[in-house]
Amino acid sequence: MPEHQHAHAVLPSATLDERAREDIVKSLKRNVTTRLVPGVSDVWRRRVSQQFADTPASRHEVRQAMLDDDYVQHVFSLRRILQEQVWDVTAEIVGRQIEDLNRRAEHVENHAGGTLELDPGLEIPAYLQALDIHAMPTGYWDVATEGYDVAAGAMYDRGVYLYALGQSGPLGDSRGRSVVFNFFAEELPELRPRRILDMGCSVGHSLLPYTELYPEAEIWGIDVGPGVLRYAHARAESLGKKIHLSQQSAERTRFPDGHFDLVTSHILLHETSRSALRNIFAECWRLLAPGGYMMHAEVPQFEGVDAFTQFMLDYDTYYNNEPFWGAMHDTDLGQIAIDVGFPPENVRSAFVASGRREGADRTGTASKGKAAGQLQLTVARKPIAN
Ligand SMILES: C[S@@+](CC[C@H](N)C(=O)[O-])C[C@H]1O[C@@H](n2cnc3c(N)ncnc32)[C@H](O)[C@@H]1O
Repeated sequence: MPEHQHAHAVLPSATLDERAREDIVKSLKRNVTTRLVPGVSDVWRRRVSQQFADTPASRHEVRQAMLDDDYVQHVFSLRRILQEQVWDVTAEIVGRQIEDLNRRAEHVENHAGGTLELDPGLEIPAYLQALDIHAMPTGYWDVATEGYDVAAGAMYDRGVYLYALGQSGPLGDSRGRSVVFNFFAEELPELRPRRILDMGCSVGHSLLPYTELYPEAEIWGIDVGPGVLRYAHARAESLGKKIHLSQQSAERTRFPDGHFDLVTSHILLHETSRSALRNIFAECWRLLAPGGYMMHAEVPQFEGVDAFTQFMLDYDTYYNNEPFWGAMHDTDLGQIAIDVGFPPENVRSAFVASGRREGADRTGTASKGKAAGQLQLTVARKPIAN
């Protein structure tokens, strides 16, 4: 991988053997992405697109035609097998040292002064319980051991670094840094939020950069998973970052009306159901103070992208346990913002670099404008006076 993952109090360490297994998975993933996935475009161009008299109307038509092809079946199978390998090797690493990680997390020194509150009674949404999202065993919310368990956080932190081939940077924060410094610092330099809430913060990868741009702000992260939050707390404290973490659902939080000047999420929406997505937007509206901003960062929507590229981008819906991926990417997020109360003139999209580096294009096609290497931000402002 391009860089080593930045060490902190709860990052699982790997033995030489484990690192060798990670390296094999990484090399295979890189080979499949850079050498085999582009061949799917060739199959489309040379063999399958000829079956269509006109340009296919949708990715679903492309999918029906492409899935009969042996090459496509092999490449998609390999991608799925490698995803399972990512989690297999990560589970081995985390499982070997979980008791130690749990102990370290529970007794981490509170250097930065952040807080953690858990709610054992919180109902985990059905859309997270129904399957292991992106094939990560135990999902985000489950607990693997009794007591102060951080397995879900440890799995996510080490596993997504391998999944992304290290392209999200040593602290996994390149996505958050891009939003914070390429969007908020550049486009809203006057914004000085007193309180910030990040929804679906997981282990805090995208949340921590906000402490750099807004050192005076009170910064909160919520998630439904106790294991990711315990891990996030220990991680942030050991990195000297003061954040407050709370186990709450983004669909309905316990914070009072108008409590925040900025409410954000980063790659949360595609993992929630259609109704949850509306609830989350409505909750943002409720939580924002007059003049406050909502910002949701996601991999760009499919609108305006050709049917073949959409088919490639929609792989995760069918083979990576991301059942809402395609539906979310078809949804007009700006319209939902308007539906929950934001005035149309206060709603917009912005694009920033995704932060991923080499091999950012997962479609196997040449870069397709907004489809590759970018994040789409849905931004809305609550009026200063209603
Ligand atoms: C892909 S991870 C997001 C990672 C993080 N935001 C980042 O940028 O690194 C999605 C997270 O959203 C959480 N999540 C899903 N539905 C949620 C909900 N209704 N309320 C709060 N968190 C939720 C999951 O538990 C998971 O930790």
